[in-house]
Amino acid sequence: MKTRECLTTYLAGGVNSPVRSFKHLNREPLIVDRGSGAYITDIEGQSYIDYCGSWGSLIHGHAHETILEQATFFLKKGSSFGITTAIEGELARFVNYLMPSMEQMRFVCSGTEATMTAARLARGFTGRSYIVKFIGHYHGHADFFLVQAGSGVLHLNQTASSSGIPDSIVKHTLCLPFNDEKALQELFKTYKDQIAAVILEPVAGNMGVVPASRSFMNLLRKITEEEKTLLIFDEVMTGFRFSKGSAQSYYGITPDITTLGKIVGGGFPVACLGGRKEIMRHLAPEGTVYQAGTLAGNPVAMAAGLASLKLLDKENFYEELQEKADFLLQPVEEAIKGKKACLNRVGSMFTLFFGPEKVTEAADIKHLDNERFKNFYHAMLSEGLYFSPAHNEASFISQAHSFDDLLKTREVLLNYVCKYL
Ligand SMILES: Cc1ncc(COP(=O)(O)O)c(C=O)c1O
Repeated sequence: MKTRECLTTYLAGGVNSPVRSFKHLNREPLIVDRGSGAYITDIEGQSYIDYCGSWGSLIHGHAHETILEQATFFLKKGSSFGITTAIEGELARFVNYLMPSMEQMRFVCSGTEATMTAARLARGFTGRSYIVKFIGHYHGHADFFLVQAGSGVLHLNQTASSSGIPDSIVKHTLCLPFNDEKALQELFKTYKDQIAAVILEPVAGNMGVVPASRSFMNLLRKITEEEKTLLIFDEVMTGFRFSKGSAQSYYGITPDITTLGKIVGGGFPVACLGGRKEIMRHLAPEGTVYQAGTLAGNPVAMAAGLASLKLLDKENFYEELQEKADFLLQPVEEAIKGKKACLNRVGSMFTLFFGPEKVTEAADIKHLDNERFKNFYHAMLSEGLYFSPAHNEASFISQAHSFDDLLKTREVLLNYVCKYL
């Protein structure tokens, strides 16, 4: 049986995660065979410069030698025990050194588990039920996070954005427009003493890159502190992406709980939630909030994660990454000025939006020109460039991208802008 036929026959929808199917792009999905540095090669032998990097996990590129070495060393000692290993403590200590707000943490296997547990912990700690999230932000696929809301406090419309989720599950999820200070203030008045936590992507990546404004972030911290509501920074994507201290150091805000994923696992299935000891001790076995995992803290994945974090703890790591981002993106930014497009970026994560001239909140996403994106995406693939395969997603630059790779990419992008926009 041919590979493609085998996948479509035996996997639901042919994939293990929906965006990979390329259904929205009306084309057959890429089936990758291998990756090395900034490049991936598909089963037909076609190579691409990769700007998805396993959705931002691979800040050092594919198959980085040091990460492979460490993972292999641990793999040879035994792949899994379901018993505590020393490396779990070492990774936790290193995460705490980079992000001191995470005094204690718990490792899990996916971002979904981390955010789901963070919300349960916040509810257990505060004894309150409501969780506030922002429209367009994604926190994994736990039932109560898959909520689409109407815009504004007055039109709260808690309907799940997936079938299979009863209304009773989403009735404690409140959605707000991002960066809207007034809506935030009103919501806290309406639900006084009932909100367990506010969760957000400090720099949203899952509606394309959309940063929080500093004044919104300051207000959010102030209100949550005053109202004794926990502030959860979902840094699954932003964790270690544009600075060692992640988005919390970029904004100068200390959240109560942080969730991490992607980079913290060095390309392996690792995620994490952490915060102040007084909160974390509510997790079982010390406390009454339950969480567990057969493969949680898997030593091979921990070793890869630790190697990944040690590599980024080098002098000038982020300055160099910023230089690469500027080299690739500044000329593109210039070229699209006055055209029906905009480029949002923070550090090495970026999204090129077609349609609107600015995107600062989820409402702007409604004006995206998805047909244009589709054409763009097909053109890029034929030029050997693999960006994240959806219009409202972030793409990422890694340390493995050479200036030659970036120059080639820049020329293709500028040529496209010049010809088609
Ligand atoms: C900000 C954020 N939170 C949570 C998740 C869910 O993580 P996972 O796909 O590992 O379950 C993602 C995934 O992309 C994410 O970007």
